[in-house]
Formats: sequence, C-alpha cells, structure tokens
Amino acid sequence: MNKALNKWFRQIHRWIAVPTALLIPAAVIIKLVGSPETVALWEQWDKLPSILMLFMAITGSYLYLLPYLVKERRRNKLSHT
Ligand code: HEM
Repeated sequence: MNKALNKWFRQIHRWIAVPTALLIPAAVIIKLVGSPETVALWEQWDKLPSILMLFMAITGSYLYLLPYLVKERRRNKLSHT
C-alpha cells in the first residue's frame, strides 16, 4: 500500500467518472430514441461504457477497501511495538 498508488487510483477513478457519466446516459438515449442509422453507428462503440464501468468498479473497489487496509496495517504496526 503505497501513497502514490492510492493517489493514482483516486485520480483514475475521478477522471474516468467524467466520460462514464456522459456516455451511459447518451447510450441509453441513443438506444431509446435514436434513428436506425445512429443506433447502427453507436453499435460499434457499444462496449466502451462497459469498459469504463469496469475501470470504475476496479478503482472504486480499491478506494472502498483503502480505509480498512490502512486500519489493519496500523493495528499490526502497533501490536509489534
Ligand atoms: C462501479 C462501482 C463503483 C465503486 C465501487 C465506487 C466506489 C467509490 C469509493 C469507495 C470512493 C471513495 C469515497 C471516499 O473516499 O470518500 C469513490 C469516489 C468517487 N466516485 Fe466512485 N465508485 C464506483 C463507480 C463510480 C461511478 C460510475 C462514478 C461516476 C460516473 C463514480 C464517481 C466517483 C467520484 C467523482 C468520486 C470522488 C473521487 C475523488 O475523491 O477524487 N464512481 N467511489
């Protein structure tokens, strides 16, 4: 558990959140009201929101676990002193 790594996970989570938040509603709108041509064009990019969500889930899970990992580490350190 390294401070630079924690910072990077948070930064990745924060920056990927922007395209994810834009793309998912856009994808839903295209599928609901898009013309057949737009839908056909979108189909080529359809996997992108899932890939972004995968990154969000991985980095988010790490951020979720972080406080518990820190606590565990602190507890182990104290018990050795
Ligand atoms: C997919 C599962 C996700 C999990 C498990 C998850 C989990 C987390 C956790 C644990 C934090 C840190 C909270 C804290 O320390 O106070 C966080 C922060 C955040 N999450 Fe997620 N998240 C997920 C998806 C998303 C999505 C889809 C978005 C937006 C599109 C998003 C946007 C953010 C933002 C903007 C922050 C604040 C980042 C920062 O502090 O710099 N997350 N998330």
